This record gives sequence, C-alpha cells and structure tokens, in this order.
Amino acid sequence: MKDFRVDLRSDTVTKPSVAMRRAMAEAEVGDDWFGDDPTVHRLQERAAEITGKEAALYVPTGTMANQIALRLHFSGSGHLVAAEPMSHVASTEVMSAAVLSGIAYRTVHGDRRGRITADQVRAALEPDEPYDVEIVDLVCLENTSGHAGGTVMDVDDFRAIRKVAEEAGVAVHLDGARIFNASAASGVDVAEYAAEVDTLMFCVSKGLGAPIGSLVCGTTEQVREGRRIKILFGGAWRQAGVIAAAGLIALEEGPKRLHEDHERARRLGEAVAELVPGSLDPADVETNMVFADTEASMAMTPLEVANRLEGHGVGVSVVSGKVRMVTHVDIADEDIETAIAAWKAVAAARWEAHP
Ligand SMILES: Cc1ncc(COP(=O)(O)O)c(C=O)c1O
Repeated sequence: MKDFRVDLRSDTVTKPSVAMRRAMAEAEVGDDWFGDDPTVHRLQERAAEITGKEAALYVPTGTMANQIALRLHFSGSGHLVAAEPMSHVASTEVMSAAVLSGIAYRTVHGDRRGRITADQVRAALEPDEPYDVEIVDLVCLENTSGHAGGTVMDVDDFRAIRKVAEEAGVAVHLDGARIFNASAASGVDVAEYAAEVDTLMFCVSKGLGAPIGSLVCGTTEQVREGRRIKILFGGAWRQAGVIAAAGLIALEEGPKRLHEDHERARRLGEAVAELVPGSLDPADVETNMVFADTEASMAMTPLEVANRLEGHGVGVSVVSGKVRMVTHVDIADEDIETAIAAWKAVAAARWEAHP
C-alpha cells in the first residue's frame, strides 16, 4: 500500500469529509434493486435537476455509467461508436465495450487538446456507400478530456457536433466524468453542456470528492432502460443510500471549490515549467491536471521521474507517456509547495548527473 505525503496520482484518491461520513452513518436506506432507497432517489433527482435532464441513475463507477449509456444507444453488434481514440470509452474501456455490448469504434482523432470538430464528426458519420456495411449508432464526447490534460471543450463545438449528429440521426453521449471541472473553468453551466447531448454521465467520485459513484442522465425512458441494463451488468447495489448520502454532499459542495483545485494546478504547472524548461506549457493547464513531458525536457522516462518523486513522498501517475499530477479536495497550498520542492530536487539531481 502506498502512503504518500502528497498524493497527486488522481482526483479519485480523496477521502470522504467528516460531513460525508456523518451523513453516511445517518443515511436513510432501502433496497435499490426494488427502487426503494430514498437517499439514492434524492441523489438521482438532484442530478437530473442540475443537468436539466428528465431523470438520472446512480451507479457504482464511471465505467459502468458509460457502458450503460453506450448500450442504451447501441442498436446491435457490428455497429460502431464514433469517439476520439484516446478518450476513456475508446481506450481504457475499449474491452468493456467489446465484451459487454459487442461495440467497436470509428475513431475521430482530436487535436493535441483532445478536441474533435463537427466536420470530423460529419465525415465519420457519412455512410460507406456503395457498401452500406458500417453503421455508426452514437457519437461519444469527453469533457474535460482526461488523456489530453484535463482540457475543456467549447460549448459551441458541442452545438455544432450535435447539429451534425442530429442531421445524421445519430445520438450523442457525453462522458462528463469531470464536467463540473469543465464548467468551473469555462463558466458554462453543466446544464448548458447537457442540453447539447442525448445522455451524459458524470462522477461524484472524482473532483467532487465523494468516495464512490456516478450518474447517468437522460430521458425518463432512457433511465428506465438504463436501470434494467444496470441490473443486467450486476450493478443493483442494494442499500446504496449509504454512499449516495456522501454523493449528495459532493454534488452540493464540490462544484463550489473546484476553482481552487484549478488554481493549485496552475501554480504547480508554472513551477514545473520553470524548473524543467520544455516540460509543459502552463497555458495547457486548464483545469485540475498537469502533464509534464519529461522525455523531451529531461531525457528521463516518466516512470523514472515518478519513482524519484515518490522517493520524496509525492505520488504522481504516468498517463499518455507523461507525468500526470491531479489536484483535488485533499490537496492544500502547502502540498503544492511540497510537490514543487520534490521536482526541484529531482531536476537538480538530473542536471548534476548530466550537466
Ligand atoms: C474521462 C473518464 N471517464 C470515465 C472514467 C471511469 O470512471 P471509473 O474509474 O469510476 O470507472 C474515468 C476514470 O478515471 C475517466 O477519467
């Protein structure tokens, strides 16, 4: 078990707050298989209200939330989902989608910030005449884009993509695992993004700080069918109100403080860019993630750097061939200073070894 002084590996490592633990202990519960858990109902109703969708479904993980949504829109094995190849659904979840629903992808390559355009989507949705073999059922977007560094997609791009998809009669799903981070950075309400997609999922377990859980949001009919798929996927989690209680607090309190995570990420990004020139452009730090390219700047693999930072008590992860650091509710200003000091020591040792 790793025990870091400062854990920047992900925003999933947060511990429930005192208020969350108290709410969990006092939660009213019932059997979620029967639809009887009042706290789960409250969380679902609140999620629907905030996103402006008719209904929402509480599930254990973001992966399950995406997989339920993909299955909802997917009309049959042999069809395709259009998505950016490094997006979570098309990379980390690619085998889940294949195994659970027989899904393959039509990849749409985004720019360095993970963004895809309406013209690219239009091209991806064009029928493969004269053969008519390849049918795309769904466009899947991700905001913020995790692999591209927590970058934010413009709501106008959503609108343009939605229009193209609608013209082609194809639905749009949003992997909004960190949509509240996107909203905090852009000032665009979560409901505004949600209005441009047929379904979306978001996680209360990441930046919002809950220990567990994600929500799939859509029409009443989609959520009714989504509940059936959730049960098929083994997700009927009985007295889930115990954790939904923490989710409710995360949903109310989490969004208010995300700008602090973003400011800390920016401070860290600026410092690393100064200590290791060429490792990153601080302007790329749009939300709570900092990605440093150590191969290019230090001629050190990201794993080597991660191990050395770990030696200084700072946990980071390796994603997309870079060192990734993610700020979250359990990271304070002094933790950022500790992380900067660790980078300083690692960089100094590097220059001493190879001046
Ligand atoms: C963009 C994105 N989507 C979906 C997920 C899946 O969430 P979970 O780990 O809860 O399954 C993640 C996890 O990090 C993610 O970053």
